[in-house]
Amino acid sequence: MISENIYELMLNQVNAELNASYLYLSMAAYFENKNLRGLAKWMRKQSEEEREHAMKFYDYLVTVGKKVVLKAIPDPKTEWSSVMEVWQDTLNHEKKVTNMINNIMKQAIEDNDYASINFLNWFVDEQIEEVTTAEEIIAKFEMIGDSKQGLYLLDKELGERKED
Ligand code: FEO
Repeated sequence: MISENIYELMLNQVNAELNASYLYLSMAAYFENKNLRGLAKWMRKQSEEEREHAMKFYDYLVTVGKKVVLKAIPDPKTEWSSVMEVWQDTLNHEKKVTNMINNIMKQAIEDNDYASINFLNWFVDEQIEEVTTAEEIIAKFEMIGDSKQGLYLLDKELGERKED
């Protein structure tokens, strides 16, 4: 059994992960519109991954006998001033999600809720990976600066993303 606090935090997290999925899909649409198909493909994969994250929380709540209550997802941002701004938003969003995961973990520790701690450990590791990936991509965009050729090559490279 999970506490009411954990229940509320996890319901919010289902919403936050779906919100992230929607935001990344909006970023994909932005790239698509600029003929940056590789970057769009990367973002579409990321959007799918965020939906899977939401479903992990959904399934966990079902497993512990709690009803999943869905909340509204706000309109996502649809315009960015540059490609770099999209990646900075991605990094900021992942940092925000990391704080949310840490906050749920803090509550699970306070509750001595070992099952939830075990479940959340996967997300702690995942967030390290997601923040690092966003930082690495930003570093690559910083490297190419305004080079059109660099953008072409990065679009190609990121479009080859295979893993989730
Ligand atoms: Fe589900 Fe990218 O955090």
